[in-house]
Parts: sequence; C-alpha cells; structure tokens
Amino acid sequence: METLTALHTRRSIRNYTDQAVPEQAILTLLEAAMIAPSAGNAQPWQYIIVDDPTVLRQVPVINPYAGMAPNAPVSIVVCGDLNAEKYKGFWVQDCSAAIQNMLLAATALGLGTVWTGIYPVEERVLAFQRLLQLPESIIPLALIVIGHPAASSERKSRFDATKVHHNCWGKPRSFGTCRA
Ligand SMILES: Cc1cc2nc3c(=O)[nH]c(=O)nc-3n(C[C@H](O)[C@H](O)[C@H](O)COP(=O)(O)O)c2cc1C
Repeated sequence: METLTALHTRRSIRNYTDQAVPEQAILTLLEAAMIAPSAGNAQPWQYIIVDDPTVLRQVPVINPYAGMAPNAPVSIVVCGDLNAEKYKGFWVQDCSAAIQNMLLAATALGLGTVWTGIYPVEERVLAFQRLLQLPESIIPLALIVIGHPAASSERKSRFDATKVHHNCWGKPRSFGTCRA
C-alpha cells in the first residue's frame, strides 16, 4: 500500500472479527514502531504485547474508553523508558512517533487499530504499571488495540486551511489551484 493511501485510510477501529493477528504481523508492527525518529536517536521505548484475556479484561476497568480491548486478539502497550532518554521529556514525542508508525503499518497490513491513551492520566499510569508489573521508570503512554476490522471505514479529509498560517500568526496561506 502507498504511504499516502495508508495515511488517509487509517481510522480508529473499535470492532474486530475473531481472526487472530499473525505473529509475523506483530513483528512487522514492532519493526515499524522502532524505526521511528527519536530525540538523539535515544529510542526510549519498551513494548508490552498483551494477549492474555485475563489481563485484557482489566483494561476497561482502568480506562473506560478502552472497552474494545477485550474484544480484540492483541494489544500493545507502548511505554517510555525514562532511563533510556538522552533529552529529558522528549520520550512522549518519541513514543508517539513510534505509535503512529505502528498504526500506519497496521493499516497497510489490513489490520484495524485504536490508540487508547494512558499517560498523562496519573491513575491510569499507576494502574497499568501495577497490572503489567512495570518498573517505576517505565511509563505506559498508550495501549494500542489490534485486530481484523469487522467493517470497512470511510476515507475523509480533515484539511482545514484556517489552521495554516504563513510566516506569522493569522496570515493565511493560499494554495491556489493545488486543491480542488
Ligand atoms: C492520545 C490519544 C488518545 C486516545 N484515546 C482513546 C481512547 O482512550 N479510546 C478511544 O476509543 N479512542 C482514543 N483515541 C482515538 C481518537 O478518538 C481518534 O483518533 C479520533 O477520534 C479520530 O478518529 P480516527 O482515528 O478514526 O481518525 C485516542 C487518540 C489519541 C491520539
């Protein structure tokens, strides 16, 4: 799949079939995540693959907006590794770049994903650290739910020219005839 097609067709998918996610696909997603850019190339991330139904059932108890997790075959918790950081505080951006790579790779493989937020909600961070037995220096940022989509989703543009400024705040940038 073309990069731009993957980018424009990715949607948050919250309903899945019973089909398992192959081991090779999980590896592809993790390779995509770990090739992401990071400040100082520190790669301050750790990934917890969760496919134990007992653990997945606990997810909505911690995050009520992640009620779909037990219905998907696998989730990956993306964590910042504070001990691996070169530039303090950049781990959130590094891990977010890794997550987006993972979501786009999943789209290219025909998989459906949804990014469910953990950090910076303190009680969620603590609860996931407890659930997954994470050391204190490993901060769960997000849980990515992964499965085969139960339905197709539509492609739509969110381009908004009012959010684009030219050289200074408030000065619009015309794209002329570039856009229909
Ligand atoms: C930081 C972050 C946290 C999110 N947390 C949740 C969540 O807890 N539950 C959920 O269903 N979706 C969550 N989402 C997905 C957004 O709701 C979704 O990306 C947004 O509505 C746009 O829809 P789309 O992904 O289909 O383009 C999160 C997305 C981001 C980037």
